[in-house]
Amino acid sequence: MNRPFYITTPIYYVNDVPHIGHAYTTLACDTLARYKRLSGHEVFFLTGTDEHGQKVEKAAAQAGLTPQAFVDQMSKTFRDLIPQINATPDDFIRTTEERHKLAAQHLWQELIKRDQIYLGKYSGWYAVRDEAFYHEKELVNGKAPTGAEVEWVTESSYFFRLSAWQDKLLEYYHKNPDVIAPESRRNEVIRFVEGGLNDLSVSRTSFKWGVSIPNDPKHIIYVWLDALTNYITALGYPHAQQSFEKYWPEAVHVVGKDILRFHAVYWPAFLMAADLPLPKQIFAHGWWTNEGQKISKSLGNAIDPVELVETFGADTVRYFLLREVPFGQDGDFSRQHLINRYNSDLANAYGNLVQRVMSFIYKNCEGKVPLPAELTVEDKVLLKASQKMLPDLERNMEQRAFHKYAENIWQLISNANQYIDEQKPWSLKNTDVTRMQTILYGLADTIRQIAILTQPLLPVASEKILDQLAVEKTERELNFLKEALTPGTVLPEPKAVFPRWVEN
Ligand code: MSP
Repeated sequence: MNRPFYITTPIYYVNDVPHIGHAYTTLACDTLARYKRLSGHEVFFLTGTDEHGQKVEKAAAQAGLTPQAFVDQMSKTFRDLIPQINATPDDFIRTTEERHKLAAQHLWQELIKRDQIYLGKYSGWYAVRDEAFYHEKELVNGKAPTGAEVEWVTESSYFFRLSAWQDKLLEYYHKNPDVIAPESRRNEVIRFVEGGLNDLSVSRTSFKWGVSIPNDPKHIIYVWLDALTNYITALGYPHAQQSFEKYWPEAVHVVGKDILRFHAVYWPAFLMAADLPLPKQIFAHGWWTNEGQKISKSLGNAIDPVELVETFGADTVRYFLLREVPFGQDGDFSRQHLINRYNSDLANAYGNLVQRVMSFIYKNCEGKVPLPAELTVEDKVLLKASQKMLPDLERNMEQRAFHKYAENIWQLISNANQYIDEQKPWSLKNTDVTRMQTILYGLADTIRQIAILTQPLLPVASEKILDQLAVEKTERELNFLKEALTPGTVLPEPKAVFPRWVEN
C-alpha cells in the first residue's frame, strides 16, 4: 500500500496581498501533491492564512478596519489566488477559525500540564515584521539580522522551556538525516541548536489580537506558537484521531529559508514537549529576487502572481518557477528568461512534438489512433523510455528536485523529436503506409506517456494533450504509463497547445 502523504505550505500573513513568493511555495507543494496523487497516494494538501499578531493588528489599524474585518478581506485574496494559479489544496485554514483557536488552546494546556511553560517577564528586542524575539548579540547595526526594525519590549510573559530540548532536537536531526533539507540548511539548523537554546517567550500582553490563554486571558499566545499549530488543527487535533494518525507521520512542511528556524527548531520542540509525534520533513526553499533586486515593500517591486498568470498562463508560470531554479536555491525572476523558457521548452520542444505528430495523424490517418504493425528495436526503445526513467523521476520528486524531474522528461521529448527526424514518417505516405502508421502509433503513445508525466508541472496543457489523444480521465495515473493507446480510437481535431510567444 502506498503511504498517505501530507503536504503543507506556510500559512501566509495577511498584512499584505499575495506576491510571487507565496505563489511559489504553493505551486511547489501543489506539484508534489499532484505527483503523489498520480502515483496512487492519498494526499492531504494544506494551505491557509496566518491572521493574528502585532503585524496584522497594525496593518488593520492602518487600513482603518477592525482586525476581524481586515483579516476577512485579506484572507480572501489568498483564497482567490488558489484557483488563479491552479492549485489544488484539500483544505484552507485560517487561524481565526474556531477549530484552530481550540486546537491552539488545547496544545497550550498540554504544555502547561507537562510543566513545559512557566510565567516570567520578558525584557528584550522584538521585531514586529518578523514576529520574532532577538537577542542583543544577534542585532546588526541596531536592527534584526533580517534588517527588520526592533523595539524594546518589557512585559509579563509565559516562557517555553526550549533550553531543555537541545539534546533531543539534535538526536531527532541525527536519527532522521532527511528531516531538514536541503543539506546546507540542515547543517545551519544543527549549528544553531548546538550553539545553545534559550527559553522562548510564548505569550504577549501588550496587544490583544491573538488567541487568548486559557485561565489567564490578559495574555495571548505568541503568534508563532499559534500559527505552527495550524498543521495539526487541520487534521482535527485534538479530536480526529484517525486522520491525525493517518497523515501526521507523513507530514512534509515546505517553507522559505527565512522561517526555517521556527519550523525546524521551535515546532519539533513544542511537539516533543506535548508528547506528540514529529513531522517527516521540513524543506526550505530559496528566495526570488526581481530582475536582480531584492523584493521589498519599500522598493515597490513585488511581482503580482495574478498579473503574471493573466499574461502567461498558470502553467507557464509554474513551469518557469520550478524549472528555472533548483528548489532550495535562490533565484532571480526575469520576464525575458520566462519568455525564453516558454519558447524553447514549451513552444519549440514539447509543443512542436505534439503539433507535428497530432496534425499529421489527423490528416493522414483519418483522425484515428493509427494501427501499428510489427515494432522495430527503435520503436520499442522509444515506447519503453518513460517506464525506464520512472525510478529517476520518482527519486527527483522525493528530493524535491523539480528541475531535474523536468530535465528528465525533456530528454524524452528530445528523443521523440529526434526519432521523427530519423524515421521521417511523412516520406512513407505514398510508399509504406503500414510502417508510417507504426511510427505514428509509437509517437502518439509516447506523447501520451509524456503528457501523463507532465501533469504535475503543466496541469492545463497536459490535460489538453491527453484530451487530444482521447485518453480517458480515469487512465491518466502513472500506473497507466505501461498501458497503450487503442488503435482506431477517434481523435478530436488537434489544436496548438503552446503557440510561440512573440513580444509586441
Ligand atoms: N506567517 C508566516 C508563516 C507561518 S507558518 C506556520 C510567514 N508568512 S509570510 O507570508 O511572510 O511568508 C510566507 C512564505 O513566503 C515564506 O515561506 C517565505 O519564505 C515566502 N516568501 C516571501 N518572500 C519570498 C520571496 N521573495 N521568494 C520566495 N519566497 C518568499 O512567514
